[in-house]
Amino acid sequence: MTIRLLIIGATSAIATAVARRYAARGARIHLVGRRAAAVDAAAADLRVRGAAEVKATVLDANDTARHEGALAQAWQAWGGFDHALVAHGVLPDQAQCEVDAPAALASFDTNARSVVSLLTDLANRFEQQGSGALAVISSPAGDRGRASNYVYGAAKAAVTVLAAGLRHRLAEEGVRVLTILPGFVDTPMTASFAKGPLWASPERVAADIERALDKGFGSVYTPWFWRWIMLIIRHVPERLFIRTKL
Ligand SMILES: NC(=O)c1ccc[n+]([C@@H]2O[C@H](COP(=O)([O-])OP(=O)(O)OC[C@H]3O[C@@H](n4cnc5c(N)ncnc54)[C@H](OP(=O)(O)O)[C@@H]3O)[C@@H](O)[C@H]2O)c1
Repeated sequence: MTIRLLIIGATSAIATAVARRYAARGARIHLVGRRAAAVDAAAADLRVRGAAEVKATVLDANDTARHEGALAQAWQAWGGFDHALVAHGVLPDQAQCEVDAPAALASFDTNARSVVSLLTDLANRFEQQGSGALAVISSPAGDRGRASNYVYGAAKAAVTVLAAGLRHRLAEEGVRVLTILPGFVDTPMTASFAKGPLWASPERVAADIERALDKGFGSVYTPWFWRWIMLIIRHVPERLFIRTKL
């Protein structure tokens, strides 16, 4: 069976690595991204890598008024999808967000509001289809509020809870909803960060996302050890936690 995969935020480094894995398997892939030239280049790359068919749609995720139309068109083209991955996101400047509410809201719009709109629509389409896997990239940053990135973390917390609720709702409908929780990944989003032993490549994370889309369940921390790091971080008592510099 030829897998039909929809990727939103398709030019993301992590999404690109996922798309390449499916291209190598001869999948049909529909890319959605906000920069036409970048999405077209990604589509051409996937064709060369073995994808059976690649389509591209230009959409700014913040343009929620266009979500329904864009998804309806994509859905119609191949009569639905087996997998969908929602991958777009921005990492706001936390210091700026602390003094600039519009900046905090702008990042929240991209990281949370647009995802609420997309997942609401996609969940209903998958439900109607009665099958499929819907994955969204959230972040362990949403597991606990921290001084260093709570604006980004708050948006990802919203995504994590939204996905968990959809998973619960659709469990009996033949639809798997997956929350992808990558730790530190070396991508353009984190280009300015010093890297260390906890860092993973987009390819490493993409292998886990592919496995999750194919047959996974629930929340997928990637690499796996972040499940245990976050278990500890979530359980540090608040009075101790506020003395840390995390
Ligand atoms: N890197 C990490 O350490 C890490 C850790 C945990 C979670 N994540 C999450 O992983 C996901 C992928 O990020 P990444 O690390 O692969 O970073 P990335 O390569 O910088 O990708 C971010 C993507 O989001 C897209 N995007 C941003 N705003 C958009 C908008 N308004 N409309 C449409 N697309 C938009 C960007 O499009 P353009 O190419 O057009 O700019 C880009 O494709 C994000 O949700 C991120 O929050 C990353």
